Amino acid sequence: MLLEGKKLLITGVLTPQSIAFAVAKLAQEQGAEILLTGFGRATALTGKSAKRLPDPPDVLELDVNDESHIETVAGELESRWGVLDGVLHAIAFAPEDALGGNFLNTPPASATTAFQTSAFSLKALAAGMLPLMKERGGAIVGMDFDASVAWPIYDWMGVSKAALESVARYLARDLGAHGIRVNLVSAGPLKTMAAKSIPGFDGLAAAWDGVAPLAWDTSDPGPVAAAVAFLLSDYSRGITGEILHVDGGYHAIGAPARQA
Ligand SMILES: NC(=O)c1ccc[n+]([C@@H]2O[C@H](COP(=O)([O-])OP(=O)(O)OC[C@H]3O[C@@H](n4cnc5c(N)ncnc54)[C@H](O)[C@@H]3O)[C@@H](O)[C@H]2O)c1
Repeated sequence: MLLEGKKLLITGVLTPQSIAFAVAKLAQEQGAEILLTGFGRATALTGKSAKRLPDPPDVLELDVNDESHIETVAGELESRWGVLDGVLHAIAFAPEDALGGNFLNTPPASATTAFQTSAFSLKALAAGMLPLMKERGGAIVGMDFDASVAWPIYDWMGVSKAALESVARYLARDLGAHGIRVNLVSAGPLKTMAAKSIPGFDGLAAAWDGVAPLAWDTSDPGPVAAAVAFLLSDYSRGITGEILHVDGGYHAIGAPARQA
């Protein structure tokens, strides 16, 4: 099995539609032992979703912006496992006024919140887990939405994803000496809670079908989860600092070939 015996920390499970839920399910099916994290009051929802996994895992509380939470999670992993083989960072947040076409008027505090939660947090989590991973190496995977171009509506979340791409490269630089790989999966649009909070998301998702060479199902995070599992596995042992597009090929196409 692809992830046999791997001990993985999976953040970002909120509902069974969450990308991280699909990763958690596949990871268990592929032989991994996993722990989930939940955020604030939504931790109860994460617990409910966890019960729908093949082998319901425990849920640890984690606000990724709170250093003490990261320390507590690391301490818990240390006492349970002593080591960690991989981490999925599937966390993003932008305040309402940082999204939806308000780019020119977004207050700096809202842009900063988006950056801290969605990009800086990859560094915070990686640094917090380093003591558990540096003995035998491992893999860190984050979730991206192609930030090489500007999108309608995505605004400061798009800027934060550009920062995330850069953070991942710097982490790859600094953690490679410990045998730790850092990669991102740039996913096409998927109908999750985070997506619902982006006004105009449906329009963007509809446009996908007219451009992507492969069929793209916004209700199926399976292809994205498969790529994350690959990046968490030893099959990707020569890959770091990479952005793997799992978007039906949309990123490679300049203009639609057919009507959506
Ligand atoms: N849905 C899409 O179309 C899409 C496309 C590309 C990339 N992504 C990325 O995938 C990742 C997962 O999102 P999703 O679409 O599965 O949505 P989701 O709403 O299911 O997951 C987002 C998660 O972020 C967590 N979170 C927010 N603030 C947090 C904080 N301070 N501390 C800890 N956790 C926090 C939430 O609790 C939630 O579990 C995000 O990085 C998102 O940007 C999503």
